[in-house]
Amino acid sequence: MNDKMTTAFKAQQQACEMLGSPLTRDVVGFCADDFAANGVIADLVRGWQGDPLNDNVPLRLAGFAHYAALQGDENLARFYESCGGAYAESDQAALSGALDDIFRREEKTARRFLRSAPQTNETGRAAMLFLGFSEITKRLGLPLRLREIGASAGLNLFFDKFHYRLATDRGDERWGPPDSPLSLAAQWRGTPPALADEIEIASRRGCDLFPVNIADANERMKLQSWVWGDMPDRRARLLAALEIADIAPPEIDRADAAAWVAAQIMARPSGQATVLYHSIVWPYLSVSQRFAIESAFAQAAEEVRPDAPLVWLKMDGRELGTIAQLSYRIWSGENGPEGEEVILGPCHPHGVDLDITAAF
Ligand SMILES: C[S@@+](CC[C@H](N)C(=O)[O-])C[C@H]1O[C@@H](n2cnc3c(N)ncnc32)[C@H](O)[C@@H]1O
Repeated sequence: MNDKMTTAFKAQQQACEMLGSPLTRDVVGFCADDFAANGVIADLVRGWQGDPLNDNVPLRLAGFAHYAALQGDENLARFYESCGGAYAESDQAALSGALDDIFRREEKTARRFLRSAPQTNETGRAAMLFLGFSEITKRLGLPLRLREIGASAGLNLFFDKFHYRLATDRGDERWGPPDSPLSLAAQWRGTPPALADEIEIASRRGCDLFPVNIADANERMKLQSWVWGDMPDRRARLLAALEIADIAPPEIDRADAAAWVAAQIMARPSGQATVLYHSIVWPYLSVSQRFAIESAFAQAAEEVRPDAPLVWLKMDGRELGTIAQLSYRIWSGENGPEGEEVILGPCHPHGVDLDITAAF
């Protein structure tokens, strides 16, 4: 186990370096050294049951440090941009001192914190999903009944309230309220279809095994702590999306997607298009959970009326870390139980860019 833990720390340090977060790299570096020296970090993670890399143990520790800074620990806060501080490599020794202090003083809280898996609700993915929602609206001409699995805090359920700045081969495209608190930039390579003028939403609802309740101050703080403390753009996106979601917080059921999907797609109200969707969730599902969802769709697809169509929109891949694909299958009530699958194209898993391969 010691070897696996050490490997996990090393891999995470490299990932932080590559992704441009020297602060998180050095927080993880402190944890690695302290673990090797049998310090408080070793006490905290000794006997970890799962695989430390898959379970993101280094990120859980880094998340706790950020959480403590956001909660007002002044020794730490001065290194976090998210708390008005700044970090330079010359601060490494002082950072280590502050980390040693907080992990020792708050060992019990840290132990509790380590039980939660990192949860980042990435709103950048809306800039990919949006193409799907636009196409579905153009084809069906009905308000969308949004149902999201693995929705986390449910922030992407508000995709229609974000402003998009899309760089395409045809030039720049803009969509959505220009005064939205959240403006997303993304690249869509290739020539996109004309975008829907307006997308009407009938209702929004999601599920997650571990939903984040944004009305709960502590959960909200935890959500912020997963965004690395020296990544101001991502933090600003999260805060802007929270501001939008706060107006009418989304309903996110605490449920396993395997059972929830059937309940949402079997009985569908007429005059609405039911769109079941997900982003970067499929790799987390077991074979039997995937099978349950596919079976629910097969059953629902047997009886689709044109006034209550059904769509399955995915921005997902089969495994973590691989390129995602944006696609949808549509059952219009006129195209039989197989429906029609449209592959829109491969895309970055965080929503940075999309290669449009579909012909419109
Ligand atoms: C990588 S996150 C993606 C969250 C969100 N879709 C996004 O794009 O930001 C994966 C999410 O799937 C949830 N999840 C994993 N297995 C699940 C299951 N069986 N049922 C429901 N949610 C699940 C996790 O709790 C987590 O919130």
